[in-house]
Amino acid sequence: MNILGIETSCDETAAAVLSDSQGILSNIVLSQDEIHAPYGGIVPELASRHHILSVAYIVDESLRRAGIKIKDIDIFAVTQGPGLIGSLLVGLNFAKGLAFYFNKPLVPVDHLEAHTCSVLLENQDISYPVLALLVSGGHTTLFFQKEPLESQIIAKTRDDAAGEALDKIAKFLELGYPGGPIIDRLAQKGDPESFPFSLPQMTDGSLDYSFSGFKTAALQHIKKIGITKDHPRLHDFLASFEQAVIRALLSSLEKSFNSYTPNSLILCGGVARNKKLRKAFEDYADKVSINSYIPSPEFCTDNAAMVAVAALEKLKKKKTAGTTRIPLDLNAYPRKPN
Ligand code: KG4
Ligand code: ZN
Repeated sequence: MNILGIETSCDETAAAVLSDSQGILSNIVLSQDEIHAPYGGIVPELASRHHILSVAYIVDESLRRAGIKIKDIDIFAVTQGPGLIGSLLVGLNFAKGLAFYFNKPLVPVDHLEAHTCSVLLENQDISYPVLALLVSGGHTTLFFQKEPLESQIIAKTRDDAAGEALDKIAKFLELGYPGGPIIDRLAQKGDPESFPFSLPQMTDGSLDYSFSGFKTAALQHIKKIGITKDHPRLHDFLASFEQAVIRALLSSLEKSFNSYTPNSLILCGGVARNKKLRKAFEDYADKVSINSYIPSPEFCTDNAAMVAVAALEKLKKKKTAGTTRIPLDLNAYPRKPN
């Protein structure tokens, strides 16, 4: 069975072909980073307009690299939400058109579920239940999953996502866009203990995250020391900020570990590409003697292979109406429905 996945929820136009017997046959991601970089953040209308220009080419390229024809696709899978509505509509409508024309099932996939399934692309034998930490530019959420796609939210951010906080500080310092990978690189040369950041504590005892306090503290340090992109303490500052974000991310995981007694830990989402976060996560898993899974970097940031694998999981569980009919009334959702 061949699944074509399509992902256009944010600023990457992506398509992938996944075979249930041979694994990933192709995985194409066209980033719009250069388009949005001059603005220091994503401009939604530009994102949708570039998806509409690129989506057909990217799907075509994913089929070419997979070495198959579109008529050999058995299932179409597409991100339904959450994300930028204009961007989502482009991918969803394109996928719906393909499914309709070729009379094949269309499986809608939730973007957050796709991220948590991304580890399944490279590991088929993960022992569930798991604690899955999803850290991206739009989301920071800790899930308990009894099995894939059976997610219960344990903690989520009350303000900025972790990636958003990294991107905003990089933007303020005029380091470039997206800021996450730039901070990852520059922070390696710095001392993470040189600037103090205190961990936020929720007064209601919840394990939720908050990154806006770090942002305010970071801006105070920047103003007090006069940090600019050429300042000699830039690397120390970024290393300290990055470490504060990592400590906060791991703190809720550590606090929930004993109550949920998972068999494995999963880290996913764009920020999971961060080298120090990957190391800290693996160190923690070693400390508590549990298996941990982090996707290869290309499957952490938005991609369509994770959409295809999430659709495959849905099909295995028969959790989709798309297997029996083409859901022509399917619509995109910008936020996760309650
Ligand atoms: O998962 P993703 O591609 O899109 C969303 O669903 O949001 O994540 C994008 C986020 C951005 O905030 C970007 O700065 C961050 O992932 N990111 C990183 C790294 N690579 C990407 N953050 C830290 N270190 C990295 N190496
Ligand atoms: Zn994402």
